[in-house]
Amino acid sequence: MNKGKVAVGSDHAGYEYKEKLKDVLTELGYACEDFGAASTASVDYPSIGRGAAEAVASGQCQWGLLICGTGVGMAMVANRVKGVRAALCYNEEVAGVTREHNDANVIVLGQRTMGLQEAEKTLRVFFATEFSGDERHIRRIAAIDE
Ligand code: RB5
Repeated sequence: MNKGKVAVGSDHAGYEYKEKLKDVLTELGYACEDFGAASTASVDYPSIGRGAAEAVASGQCQWGLLICGTGVGMAMVANRVKGVRAALCYNEEVAGVTREHNDANVIVLGQRTMGLQEAEKTLRVFFATEFSGDERHIRRIAAIDE
């Protein structure tokens, strides 16, 4: 079952989780397009995050998964790209609500700020939760891009 393509990216501080969470996405039926990093060697997150975010904005990928040490830098970068709604998800509740309310299309995780098990659970909730489609949320999301 192919559910669409996920643009995946990390810096060195998110590399380990990126590699592990790609397997989870594959198990869930998503294809992954990897924008780096290719190892734990130090690399700057903006170019990798921007590449992945632009792939989501252009429709080349339907979703994104970005990971750095805290998730903050990747979220800052991804949200500069119009059409991207990147959510720094620090627990399962946030992952669910941001899908329901914000129709987030990029999940951002911090490898240094959450355990791998929590990161995996958070990722699973994000991809299992649908946007509510409520009029008020559609209006608010549209206002972000205006
Ligand atoms: C890298 O040391 C670290 O600054 C980066 O992964 C991230 O946490 C930035 O937001």
